[in-house]
Amino acid sequence: MNTNSLLEIQDLRVSFPLDEGTVQAVAGVNLAIQPGQVLGIVGESGCGKTVTAQSLLRIIPPPGRIDGGTILFRSSKQSGNGKDENIVDLAKLNPKSEMMRRIRGNEIAMIFQEPMSSFSPVHTVGSQIMEAILLHQDLSKQAARERAIEYMRLVGVPGAQDRMDDYPHQFSGGMRQRAMIAVALSCNPSLLVADEPTTALDVTIQAQILDLMRRLQQQFGMAVLFITHNLGVIAQIADHVAIMYLGQVVEQAPVREILRHPKHPYTMDLLRAVPRLGKTAGQRLVAIEGSIPSPLQRPMGCPFHPRCSKMIPGVCNTHVPQWVALNEIHSVRCVLYEPNAPTPNLEPANVRAASTLA
Ligand SMILES: Nc1ncnc2c1ncn2[C@@H]1O[C@H](COP(=O)(O)OP(=O)(O)O)[C@@H](O)[C@H]1O
Ligand SMILES: [Mg+2]
Repeated sequence: MNTNSLLEIQDLRVSFPLDEGTVQAVAGVNLAIQPGQVLGIVGESGCGKTVTAQSLLRIIPPPGRIDGGTILFRSSKQSGNGKDENIVDLAKLNPKSEMMRRIRGNEIAMIFQEPMSSFSPVHTVGSQIMEAILLHQDLSKQAARERAIEYMRLVGVPGAQDRMDDYPHQFSGGMRQRAMIAVALSCNPSLLVADEPTTALDVTIQAQILDLMRRLQQQFGMAVLFITHNLGVIAQIADHVAIMYLGQVVEQAPVREILRHPKHPYTMDLLRAVPRLGKTAGQRLVAIEGSIPSPLQRPMGCPFHPRCSKMIPGVCNTHVPQWVALNEIHSVRCVLYEPNAPTPNLEPANVRAASTLA
């Protein structure tokens, strides 16, 4: 693992064996995130963003399972004389183990698109924030209540003290989202995983929540894995971006680098589909040409080749592209950038297969 990284995912594979076949939800993901960095993951719906996030926390719903790869996480435990750091492979931990339970919620926290699903409807918002605090910190009930009010103020819930005793349904969508962020922050995580946290909100509220997250991220110095299908949101919040397609990261680089010098043909198409980034906050990705193949039938070779304008017959439909680091900050998975790219295998069968798919 790189000495600076907080998290490094290598060749992660996750599948769902179903009656109708096996869905390769994550098909060899590579990702790295540094402490205090905001990494945006962007890609069309169904490309494996959520399952990747669920893998880190080991909360993949059954029958999903990790088939291979590593998820190296720099775990740090407060001890008598400072911090004890050690590197844990989350992919190998038992999801129910003591260590995984400690990491989940304590070092890695998660917020979702739908906050209603992470709050119990029958308990007050305040009591649920207190519960999260008491789970991770050794405090009296009174102190936990005061801390909960503090967090509610921090995330901008007006009249925090009075609203402690409200139930989740009495909060607006934006306020519930804020309260969920308060729960996530209450354990002071080193990594916050945010899965489309603003997708269900209207544009004004979305902008407020993004501002809030950016501010808290800087204040707490935590890293954020921010998942979205909206490139406008990525441009607003992320330092780095990873572009996903059919269960793989196809490109990762700093946001500005990706916007100015995209390398992967898929990234180029995505950017073309968003003509002027500045004006598109809140706009969904415009569909690009061709449709996403069924997750049950992954194309051979590069999964993007059936839709790719730069497809090389006899290479892209047969050869699985490698993950290539172009330099320290920019990596891409496309044969166009492979130093030892194979020469086209133009046997008639390959060319025929490529032309029927294109
Ligand atoms: N619980 C599940 N059971 C079966 N298939 C699933 C399940 N969750 C996700 N998948 C499949 O895994 C793939 C990736 O899904 P997901 O990670 O939710 O995509 P995204 O978050 O990028 O929209 C999709 O093909 C989806 O159908
Ligand atoms: Mg999702």
